[in-house]
Amino acid sequence: MREAEHPIDPLFLDRWSPRAFDGSDIPDEDLLTIFEAARWAPSAFNSQPWRFLYARRGDPNWQLFLGLLIPWNQGWAHSASALVYILSDSMPMSDKAGAPQPSRTHSFDAGAAWASLALQATRMGYHAHGMSGIQYELARAELGVPERYRIEAACAIGRIGDPATLDEKLRAREHPSGRKPQSEFVFAGRFPR
Ligand SMILES: Cc1cc2nc3c(=O)[nH]c(=O)nc-3n(C[C@H](O)[C@H](O)[C@H](O)COP(=O)(O)O)c2cc1C
Repeated sequence: MREAEHPIDPLFLDRWSPRAFDGSDIPDEDLLTIFEAARWAPSAFNSQPWRFLYARRGDPNWQLFLGLLIPWNQGWAHSASALVYILSDSMPMSDKAGAPQPSRTHSFDAGAAWASLALQATRMGYHAHGMSGIQYELARAELGVPERYRIEAACAIGRIGDPATLDEKLRAREHPSGRKPQSEFVFAGRFPR
């Protein structure tokens, strides 16, 4: 049971990262709504450097997308409804310069978009589980991602399934996690010594 120290929208507590999904199909319109939430994330200079590559369960690309995760993640993510690779453009177009310019915040901006995506998925009764356990070099090659784009992470999206489908170790971890107290990461003024 998650409890906030200060009042927040319940959506933030409802979002968590399960590994047991029910393997159902996700309608295209639901996925498009989830990506739409990401679309409205803030970004430096409104450069919108995020890119999403996705495969729905049953798509011709499903096995390819699954196979680019590390085997450990494949072991549970195979029951998700969609797999998404989250990329960012390290050289987004600058209106001012009239040309692509290096960005300091492309990863930060893509992170904001991913968070919006995950919260929207939660609102719709899905869950999104982020993954950095990716075979990055293989993914770049197989997905045809140009050098300029950073592969940030992947996520599995689906409806929660029966924890009994997981092995014993994962089943024991199949619950929402807690958090550090704010006192460990929020500071009034300078960085604490
Ligand atoms: C960028 C990122 C990478 C992650 N990588 C993995 C992963 O490879 N495998 C996995 O099982 N969980 C992964 N997670 C899930 C985290 O462990 C999880 O978000 C964290 O423990 C907090 O739990 P919660 O999301 O349920 O609140 C990742 C999460 C994020 C945001």
